[in-house]
Amino acid sequence: MAENYIEEDKEYIENTYNRFNVVIKEGHGSTFVDVNGKEYIDFSSGIGTNSFGVSDPEWVKAVTEQASLVQHTSNLYYSLPQIKVAKLLCEKTGMKKVFFANSGAESNECAIKTARKYSFDKYGAGRSEIITLINSFHGRTIATLSATGQDVFHQYFNPFVDDFKYAPANDIDALNALISDKTCAILIETVQGEGGVNALDAEYIKYIDKVCHEKDILFMVDEVQTGNGRTGYLYSYMEYGVNPDVVTTAKGLAGGLPFAAIMFNEKTEKTLGYGQHGTTFGGNPVCAAAAYSILTRLDQKLFDHVKECRAYLEKKLSGRKEIVSISGKGMMVGIELPNGIKAADVAKKCMENGLIPLTAKTKIRLLPPLNITIDELDRGLDILLKCIGEMM
Ligand SMILES: Cc1ncc(COP(=O)(O)O)c(C=O)c1O
Repeated sequence: MAENYIEEDKEYIENTYNRFNVVIKEGHGSTFVDVNGKEYIDFSSGIGTNSFGVSDPEWVKAVTEQASLVQHTSNLYYSLPQIKVAKLLCEKTGMKKVFFANSGAESNECAIKTARKYSFDKYGAGRSEIITLINSFHGRTIATLSATGQDVFHQYFNPFVDDFKYAPANDIDALNALISDKTCAILIETVQGEGGVNALDAEYIKYIDKVCHEKDILFMVDEVQTGNGRTGYLYSYMEYGVNPDVVTTAKGLAGGLPFAAIMFNEKTEKTLGYGQHGTTFGGNPVCAAAAYSILTRLDQKLFDHVKECRAYLEKKLSGRKEIVSISGKGMMVGIELPNGIKAADVAKKCMENGLIPLTAKTKIRLLPPLNITIDELDRGLDILLKCIGEMM
């Protein structure tokens, strides 16, 4: 029974997660099944990682085939799966080179190192400030917590890393006021995920691109959550016709295995040299094979499906008394709840009713698998509406 597992978890696992009382055992597609045999429609995809749902057969085949060839090789040797993924990423994005890591935080660590090194090589010491946005989220390591523009993350672990400045999103004047001859990079999410599913204005994103290129400041986009088809584009920046110097991505890239990529353009591709960055597991062959299986299927047909799902969701939810507003892009959805209704309470009730949503600050956040069917989406939204309705 679930209760026994929960007790054991609490006894043996460090208590850093405020878990919901669900013990997931298995699943298929957009359905999770718990240890008691109860089914849930999945609107979370493991926080945006299971791009094609649970144990998607093509992904399973790619992973098991690679596991039966070789599960890991050191980065001291060339690796076929890595080469295939790096080539595909560069071909699909126009970026020039890739470094592989294991997580979103690590990918942003690499971006931060790249920004500082690029500036050091060209301008010497002292040009080390990185501007990020208020309400951003870039990871849980000390440097990426420092990059994260939320005071709540800047406690307990002092000293943090110096030289991060936080700009209010969508305010060009405020951004200009922070840019100085010490600025080496600006790092943004085009849609702030953990910060509340807030999409940046197109004009603001284009301005950052322009000012960065004018002042030789690196334009870095954190596509950890927005990337890999989530917003209806391969990478969300592609919607805006901008040219970032560094792009980081993880989460959905390998469909649920720990894998991250940092992409460099012609300006940054030579910044990191021998011995200046590395990782044991980064680019692991099984994870790379998983990523190849995902990336080869992130095509226009899928992006159109993501946009169709978005249009369906907006049509179904707009004007409903249970929903105050809808934010985000594609299958990255934020739902503002009526006054007095707490997102965590809605999420709990949804789970009791067979739906797994997420929360982001005061909002309900939905990150369903990208290939969820309209019927599954519809059934899940009905549960969500019912749950909110009963709390009003
Ligand atoms: C935009 C963004 N960057 C970085 C991270 C950190 O990723 P990870 O948890 O894989 O380290 C997250 C995780 O939620 C994220 O949403």
